[in-house]
This record gives sequence, structure tokens and C-alpha cells, in this order.
Amino acid sequence: MATTMDAPSKTVEQRIERLSTASLNRILEPDVDVPGEVGPGQVLPDELLTLHDLPDVFATLTPDQKRTLAREEFGSIVETGVRFESVLMAGFSMEIVGRADLTDPRVTYLLHEMGEETRHSRLFVRLLTQITPRAKNPLDRPALRLLERIVLPFLMSMPAMFCLLVLSGEEVPDLLQKLASEHPDTDPMIKAVSKYHRQEEARHLAFARLLFPEQWAAAGPLQRFLIRHLGSGIAIGMFDTIVHPGVYGTVGLPTWATWRAVNRTPGRTAMRHRALRPLLNPLLEAKAFRGGRVPKGWRLAAGVDRHGRDLPSAAAA
Ligand SMILES: [Fe+2]
Ligand SMILES: [Fe+2]
Repeated sequence: MATTMDAPSKTVEQRIERLSTASLNRILEPDVDVPGEVGPGQVLPDELLTLHDLPDVFATLTPDQKRTLAREEFGSIVETGVRFESVLMAGFSMEIVGRADLTDPRVTYLLHEMGEETRHSRLFVRLLTQITPRAKNPLDRPALRLLERIVLPFLMSMPAMFCLLVLSGEEVPDLLQKLASEHPDTDPMIKAVSKYHRQEEARHLAFARLLFPEQWAAAGPLQRFLIRHLGSGIAIGMFDTIVHPGVYGTVGLPTWATWRAVNRTPGRTAMRHRALRPLLNPLLEAKAFRGGRVPKGWRLAAGVDRHGRDLPSAAAA
């Protein structure tokens, strides 16, 4: 009995130790290993701008407005990245505080991951000083910050829920950075940053995917309910706000109306499905949904039917 119970957990621990070894063998310091500056032009190509999915509006922009928009959209993504990594580090710190056994390989990897995130965040802050985004984020309001201070500790107290939040915050930029790094017209510095960040985030994603099954197995009914019915809303919110509404105001467009219109386009919806679809896999593998039926929120988030099968993009949109 002990052997069958111990075997899978040992495998997870061995895999986590391998991730720690990989982090240890490849320590990159961005101030040394990712030098350089973002260029003065349009840092992201047209196709990678959210507004491109509203072609009638996009066609009215001058080259200078496209340059501004690209820098502001990228600035919003980077700012979100720094704040997200801080939330992640706060959650991981609390996780370590509550661990009875600090010699658990999970703790060592959490420390490796936090080390990597502080380096990422320093690099992102450097990018912000170069990009100098000016858009005011309408979501950055005292009432919402206060709400955040109440909600985040609540989410951090639920390991499986927090793991899902971490996966959302890592899957979304992963897709955006993949597209940016593969496009020939992306600013060379942004390409280099995307490549560097993605290779370390691949380990973080692997770690979170390893942990989720055991966290789901240990989760109580409230946490399971929230993951089934609230997790998709958090993931969609993460995707939709990575470029905040204020960005559109910098090129003379209405902020909220443009943001809402952009996020309803088939192109943006398809991109959301592509970004969030991998998030559904750990839930399906953990058999998280009653009767195998994917709730509506998750179907909308990932573009799948009630059995978790991918829908054709037109039907999903
Ligand atoms: Fe990161
Ligand atoms: Fe990460």
C-alpha cells in the first residue's frame, strides 16, 4: 500500500528536483545577459496590436499613432507582468511560511522560481524606463487596489486556486511572447527579452502543472467550486486586461468603448482561446468537472464544447 501511494509523489519530487537543477545550471542575469535598449520605432508589428482586430478603426491611425499604440500596448503588458510576478512571489512566500517541512524539494524550487522572477521584473522595469508608457490605467483606482488587498490573500490561501491563477498569468504572456519573438518586425530587444523570459517561464509552467493535481486532490468543496465557476472569470480577466483600456486614449480613441469592442472581436476571442486552452488541460486531467461537463465559463474562456473538445474558431467566437 505504502509503495503504491509513494510512487507517484516520488516521481513528482524527482521531476521538481530536475527543474531545480535546470534553474541552477542556467542562471541568467538580465543586466548582463540581455543587454540593450528598445528601439525608437513601432516596437510591435501591426498584426500583434489588439486594435488590429478592429480594422476600420486601425486603418484611420497615422504611422505615428501606430508607433504610440505599439509602445503603450507593450508597456501595459510589461507593467502587468511586473505586478503579476509580485503577486506570485507574495503567494509563494506565504506558501513557504506555511510549509511544515522546509526541506521539501517544492520549497527549493519555489525559491529558484522567485529568484528568476525578481530578475525578470528588474528587466521589465528597465524596459518601462525605455518605453515610458503614458497611458493612465483606469483600473488603477484606490477602491480596486483595496479590493485587491482583500481578494489576493483569500486566493493565496487556496493552493489549487492560486496555482490556477499563476498558470493563467504565465500562459497568457507566453503566447504573446511567442508571437512577438517569432515575428520578423518585432523590435530586436523585445524579441530577445521574449526569448529569455519564455525559456525560464517554461520551467515555471512545468512546475505549476506538476503541482496542480496534488493541490486539486487536497482541495475542499469551496475551493473546487470556485475553480469550476470563478477560475474561468479570473483567466478571462487576466487576458482582457493585459492591455488596459487607457492605452486607446493615447491615440485619441474612447478608452472603455474601444477596449470592449476589441475584446469582442473574433480575432481577439480566438487569441484568448489559444492562450487559455492550455489552462483547461490540468483541470480536465484532474477530472475537475462534474460528469466531465465543462461549465459555461470555461467553455467561453478556452473555446471548447461541454466535453472539453476544441470548437471550430467561428463557432467558439
Ligand atoms: Fe517571469
Ligand atoms: Fe514565472
